[in-house]
Amino acid sequence: MSEDKIIEEIQRKKKLLKLDGDEILRNAGRMKFGEKSLELLRRALNVESLGAMPFSLYDAPPIIESAGEGALIYDADGREYLDMMAGFSVNNIGYHRPEVLEALIEQYKKISQYGEMLNETRIKLSELLVKITPGEPPKKVFYGVTGTDANEIAVKLVRSYTGRPYIVTHWGDYHGRSIGTSALTSSFSTWSQTYPVPPADTAVVRFPFPYCYRCPFGLNRDNCGMICTNYVDYMLRSSYYGLANPSKGLTNVAAFIIEPFQSAAGYIIPPDGYLEELYKIVKERDILFVVDEIQTGWGRTGKLWAVDHYPGVKPDITLVSKSIAGGLPYSAVVGRKEIMDSWGPGAYSTTFAGYMLGAAAALKTIEIILNENLAYQAEKKGKYFLKGLKDLEEEHPIVGDVQAKGLYMGIEFVSNNEKKPAEKETRWMASRLLQLGMLVKRSGYFGNRFALSPPLNITESQIDKAIEIFDRVFGEAEDKFDIKR
Ligand SMILES: Cc1ncc(COP(=O)(O)O)c(C=O)c1O
Repeated sequence: MSEDKIIEEIQRKKKLLKLDGDEILRNAGRMKFGEKSLELLRRALNVESLGAMPFSLYDAPPIIESAGEGALIYDADGREYLDMMAGFSVNNIGYHRPEVLEALIEQYKKISQYGEMLNETRIKLSELLVKITPGEPPKKVFYGVTGTDANEIAVKLVRSYTGRPYIVTHWGDYHGRSIGTSALTSSFSTWSQTYPVPPADTAVVRFPFPYCYRCPFGLNRDNCGMICTNYVDYMLRSSYYGLANPSKGLTNVAAFIIEPFQSAAGYIIPPDGYLEELYKIVKERDILFVVDEIQTGWGRTGKLWAVDHYPGVKPDITLVSKSIAGGLPYSAVVGRKEIMDSWGPGAYSTTFAGYMLGAAAALKTIEIILNENLAYQAEKKGKYFLKGLKDLEEEHPIVGDVQAKGLYMGIEFVSNNEKKPAEKETRWMASRLLQLGMLVKRSGYFGNRFALSPPLNITESQIDKAIEIFDRVFGEAEDKFDIKR
């Protein structure tokens, strides 16, 4: 391709992706945003990049000002929203918990941050994390700030420990969007959105996630013979995949770094038996098994960790973040001592890693999660929520599939009986729900799923109300887009 052609292609792609600020404002007017929200949105559009996340979720983004009890959020005009996102699964314990506030004040009075130095609060947190994360003791901790950090740390650590370059992950997993972690995250938004920046790490190999509703191999779960794990086994058995030379007992793979359930891809849960089988294949070859529990952890799925649903699976390393610290940024890599101690001092560093204020928030947040048994609450409330969603699936042809574990719930939308992904309909419903007072996250391989992750202290009456609003909006979408069974 000539240089001119390449520039033309870049410009064409950028044009396709570009948003129009005036249109966002018009959408906000059409969606009847309140006056203060409209005014703040106008100001934001003057000074905030249109590449920011809020502009991608709805036809116009709400201006979030405060939170209420359970799963309630309020905008700048005081309008109430049912919260089905928990700030991207960050607020499992709910909002403004007085115990966390008190812990923050106490810590802030002492010190909030000092380089990446140790203090007693942080050490207590490490002692707790090694006890409650999955995997065999003895374990140790390495801190980051964001989920992306945790993944970057894991990639460097497993390579340094094993002396092998390759990382294997699922297509469709989400592990962050830095230049490094973009190689692990294969979604449209990470690669095409910033075109022509390619993922920088080439020693990453991917295999399909078991998205059984739309099996990438075109099979059905009843008779697929678990082709997805067979495929992984094949990749590692044949020297022609470049990952191993089995006849010499060699492998180039440092680790599998995977999401146990796929979150950003739309809350997709693998079939029973999958994770155990994958783990077995990996461990038979003495490869490290790293689970990214950043979104699935802290009770969300009805157990403290998603891998707790599969007792035989003992990760070498677990990555945690999001709901760890009551809404403050914090992340940790927790792994077997031998691995964690294998690299030199200061091997990775970021100024706020392990900061004291966050450690105090994390200690208190984890105490709440454990003491209030939020995993059990998620399991119980998840069952109640799922019953409502299953009723809606029966009633509404637009609902193709519902998957849930605890309060980790994915809904897939279709526009006909051949399971055609209802992409534009899903986009429309997300904005309509916003207008009616509900925040949902639209996602999915085909942009046709809602990923629901309310705070785990959501009340039954809030769940009832959510089902009622869904019922209304699904019906409206079916009428508007003429969707019938
Ligand atoms: C599973 C998973 N891993 C990693 C990340 C990246 O975390 P962060 O956005 O805090 O960098 C996310 C974020 O959504 C995630 O869901």
